[in-house]
Amino acid sequence: MSNIPSQKRSISVTVNGTTYYRDVAARTLLVHFLRENLNLTGTHFGCDTGHCGSCTVIANGKLIKSCMMLAIQADGFTIETVEGLANPDGSLSPIQQAFSDNHALQCGFCTPGIMLASKYLLQHNPQPTEEEIRRGIKGNLCRCTGYVNIVRAIQGLAAETVQKGDLVK
Ligand code: FES
Ligand code: FES
Repeated sequence: MSNIPSQKRSISVTVNGTTYYRDVAARTLLVHFLRENLNLTGTHFGCDTGHCGSCTVIANGKLIKSCMMLAIQADGFTIETVEGLANPDGSLSPIQQAFSDNHALQCGFCTPGIMLASKYLLQHNPQPTEEEIRRGIKGNLCRCTGYVNIVRAIQGLAAETVQKGDLVK
């Protein structure tokens, strides 16, 4: 029998600007909370071991793998998921547009996590070298693209950010 308690706990989490109050089992992973309790299925669930990065979100300003955290540990957190990237009118954000323009996705399974890793990278290093970009997304595995177009998308976005300002705010 698992030692992780299964009792429910009340938590509040702000995701993409909306605060949710929910009762969750103490053993619920944050990735499952996002997908199943909040119906935010853009955050994908691949390996369950912290390796693939498909569950990557930004939580309290840090890039995290949401399969490595319990939902109750995120009580009071502010989280951004891929659903929060689009512009308020529903149009693609600069990151989404850059991935689309550069054919930086194929099956798309890794894409939400890689876009959030890209956003985090550019927020902290607006002009990364290719090596810094590759290091910035090293926690995110892609089985389809070979990374070339992903790196190209991030490079293009970085160049645009320098020209126009806060594209990845
Ligand atoms: S599902 Fe979280 S790192 Fe793979
Ligand atoms: S686009 Fe298929 S895994 Fe990355």
